[in-house]
Amino acid sequence: MRVLVVGGGGREHALCWTIAASPLVEALFCAPGNAGISADAVCVPIPAEDLDGILRFAREESIDFVVVGPEAPLVAGLVDRLEEAGIKAFGPTAAAARLEGSKAFTKDLCARHGIPTAAYGRFTELGAAEAFIEGRPLPVVVKADGLAAGKGVTIAETHDEARAAAREMLAEERFGDAGREIVIEEFLAGEEASFFALVDGETALPLATAQDHKRVGDGDTGPNTGGMGAYSPAPVVTEEVAERIMARIVRPTVAAMKAEGAPFKGVLYAGLMIEEGEPRLLEYNVRFGDPECQALLVRLASDLLPALVATADGVLDMFDLRWHDDAALTVVMATKGYPGDYARGSAIRGLDALSASGDVNVFHAGTTEEDGTIRAAGGRVLGITARAPTIATAQRLAYRAVDRIDWPEGFCRRDIGARAID
Ligand code: AMP
Ligand code: GLY
Repeated sequence: MRVLVVGGGGREHALCWTIAASPLVEALFCAPGNAGISADAVCVPIPAEDLDGILRFAREESIDFVVVGPEAPLVAGLVDRLEEAGIKAFGPTAAAARLEGSKAFTKDLCARHGIPTAAYGRFTELGAAEAFIEGRPLPVVVKADGLAAGKGVTIAETHDEARAAAREMLAEERFGDAGREIVIEEFLAGEEASFFALVDGETALPLATAQDHKRVGDGDTGPNTGGMGAYSPAPVVTEEVAERIMARIVRPTVAAMKAEGAPFKGVLYAGLMIEEGEPRLLEYNVRFGDPECQALLVRLASDLLPALVATADGVLDMFDLRWHDDAALTVVMATKGYPGDYARGSAIRGLDALSASGDVNVFHAGTTEEDGTIRAAGGRVLGITARAPTIATAQRLAYRAVDRIDWPEGFCRRDIGARAID
């Protein structure tokens, strides 16, 4: 097969590394990819959001199968465009990607189908939003409806703070179109977990569990980020909890999307809050988590590519995946200043020796290569991923590798996995 992966982050590096190992692959391309991905795939400089460019490339290169990594092209309809052109693709249509593209859509779907989630209201008028906020128990959660790159959620400790968040979104257009509608919801207590399932429109095949760390600082402090690290499995998701998640949340969602004429195909990522073993949905994403994907894929023993193709073909019911018993852990290294402003272009040294040592995978997220030097080109830059019999050992291996990387302008959290180890 001639395969194209769309995206250029750590998730796409893990996807390319995994897919490149499949005996089914004749050629592997990545658009746009990054300096690390170029070891596994031919990188082509087409941005993931350039739907026309990707379609043209897929036609010209006779691509058999496209795997879409990030949410933006999914929500914009890349899979619809590829399918119209007769090119098979992994990922949901635009109609099904509303599960991530509109929080209000997802909340209403949950309400119609009895899927457990936080109580909520949806608003386009500031006055009505302010009236709803008044008297709500604190904290209260205010969310932009659309895609806001992980920045559209405010957990307000006071009613004033909640009103200010609503005002910024509805009146000051802080998130543009994404904030023209907002969801105001109940705060859920508990422990967060991510749950992933391949879904072919009808059948859901659960993947291994994972957990990420969203805050920038040790001890889960500081602003939210895309994710500073992850580990798999997530101990909070016991087999019993996983079965509840499938029975009460994932399968009802898959059935509801099919019944409502927008069958979901791709990877469904449920962000959950788990309290005393009872899961409730925080949000859906319609793609692999980043960096959860990196920790998940190093644990996969089966060939990923036929599973992705079976998902697109709607034949997952005949499919099974095998996983290594080992745990895995990813430490993200980011440029100092992230998630705020940061400088680009600093040199990263010591990576060659690490790849040669073979105990970790260094997945690149935002890197370029100039004259043989790897340079930081983004906020999140590397995902150092180790697989080992326990999370504690994987953590030790990952940090030993981090300490061998010579990159004074970079930083990482030092406590990835701590909750799973205590
Ligand atoms: P989201 O983009 O919806 O995943 O929200 C980002 C983060 O905000 C989540 O990972 C949670 O940590 C937190 N969060 C979102 N909604 C709630 C809620 N209803 N209750 C508690 N925490 C929440
Ligand atoms: N790690 C969180 C996300 O991918 O959305």
